[in-house]
Amino acid sequence: ADVAEQTLAIIDEFKGLEGPLLPILHALQDEFGYVPQESMPVIARELNLSRAEVYGVLTFYHDFREHPAGRHVLKLCRAEACQSMGGDRLADRAKALLGIDFHETTPDGEVTLEPVYCLGLCSCSPSAMLDGEVHGRLDDAALEALVEEVRR
Ligand code: FES
Repeated sequence: ADVAEQTLAIIDEFKGLEGPLLPILHALQDEFGYVPQESMPVIARELNLSRAEVYGVLTFYHDFREHPAGRHVLKLCRAEACQSMGGDRLADRAKALLGIDFHETTPDGEVTLEPVYCLGLCSCSPSAMLDGEVHGRLDDAALEALVEEVRR
């Protein structure tokens, strides 16, 4: 089945709900690992929304990905506690090491860098998550070790 057909099947499943858009976007991301561009017009048509409305919701929530992720996903916490513990500097360091910005994937398809808003690890800030595993009290050396781990 192509993306449009799969999108329709998912929409059918959730259309009856009150506020079906978020569950539909989540289901698409579960299915594809990201929310395909081709799904947007189908969702807009079926839910009677403008494409801009659908896109607005997609980009408002940081959990959604618009492109397939790399083999590894490094999420850096951008919420307050981590910010106050040098999160900004750490983010700059990670971007420089990987040569990409947030929401981007290295050209070799290895690493995707994403922001996350609190990992529940505030007492060990600044924190990050690599492939689902959390790491706290990150300093430059620890961050470099993480990046090296995925670049090997
Ligand atoms: Fe970063 Fe809570 S603010 S883990």
